Amino acid sequence: MAALIDRPETMERITTPELAQAYIEEQVKTIKEEVGDKKVLLALSGGVDSSVVAALLIKAIGKNLVCVHVNHGLLRKGEPEQVIQVFKNEMDANLIYVDAVDRFLDKLAGVTDPEQKRMIIGKEFIDVFAEEARKLDGIEFLAQGTIWPDILESEAGIKAHHNAGGLPEDMNFKLVEPVRVLFKDEVRVVGKELGLPDNMVYRQPFPGPGLGVRCPGAITRDRLEAVRESDAILREEFAKNGLEGKVWQYFTVVPDFKSTGVKNGARTFDWPCIIRAINTTDVMEVTVEHLSNELIDHLVKRIIAEVPGINRVLFDYTPKPPATVEYE
Ligand code: XMP
Repeated sequence: MAALIDRPETMERITTPELAQAYIEEQVKTIKEEVGDKKVLLALSGGVDSSVVAALLIKAIGKNLVCVHVNHGLLRKGEPEQVIQVFKNEMDANLIYVDAVDRFLDKLAGVTDPEQKRMIIGKEFIDVFAEEARKLDGIEFLAQGTIWPDILESEAGIKAHHNAGGLPEDMNFKLVEPVRVLFKDEVRVVGKELGLPDNMVYRQPFPGPGLGVRCPGAITRDRLEAVRESDAILREEFAKNGLEGKVWQYFTVVPDFKSTGVKNGARTFDWPCIIRAINTTDVMEVTVEHLSNELIDHLVKRIIAEVPGINRVLFDYTPKPPATVEYE
């Protein structure tokens, strides 16, 4: 299948709108030839790669692309709404939105082990997606947001690259991977050219298990909400201060312990909120982005005032190594 070719050694790096346009035209033609009038299924997370794949396929086959967006309750504030706004409302996509929040959070209740949490989230995701796929008739293809570094890493034995996303064996769809030969920066150029919004195209890396790894230990809904709200404030302030797109990754963590504080003359017993902001090129080694005192003071004030359950704000000054980026 033409979509599963390797990156040609002579391929020019896509850095300009013109090169992106040429790539889009070529892919639309290829997809039309391969898929014809058959249906294609895509798990659309709203991340850069799956969003660009969706936009390309919508351009090529319109409503014959069926996008499934699973809200597992661990997404950032506004993400599910943005997926619906961009793909359903603006691009008129055939989008199935699955609210699986209770299902995931019930399964995760009381689970403290980080690896078990990751496993539950991964398995549950596949189960939900497979259930939705079984409800549909006539799907022959599965689209995936595989990119060239995924192939290189899996060849080098660094990362297992799961074809067909770990779906049950009887669901043997043919694969469509229209950004397979692209590097991440090229995917962004193509995404911009396809008209996707900047905050989708230039989005910072976000782990598959989402906010679940930023709510260390057993996830509770109230602490998860504190992570989500404080993360939204941090992202808003980074955008306002020109740091969006400049700092590699920034987020908040709300650990599972409480300390004493005082608010409006009364004692509080609440969680701390940890801010982490880092820079890197390869995520093997990471340095800390030092924020201005003014910005830190402002973040402390806003998070304390606006996020229920938080009475302290801490800043993580630890590089990697020795600390990993995420807390779990
Ligand atoms: P660590 O914590 O390993 O993170 O230093 C390095 C980079 O990988 C991201 N990360 C993940 N991404 N699934 C993902 O898709 C995961 O389970 C996961 N854990 C960490 C992390 O956000 C950082 O960019």
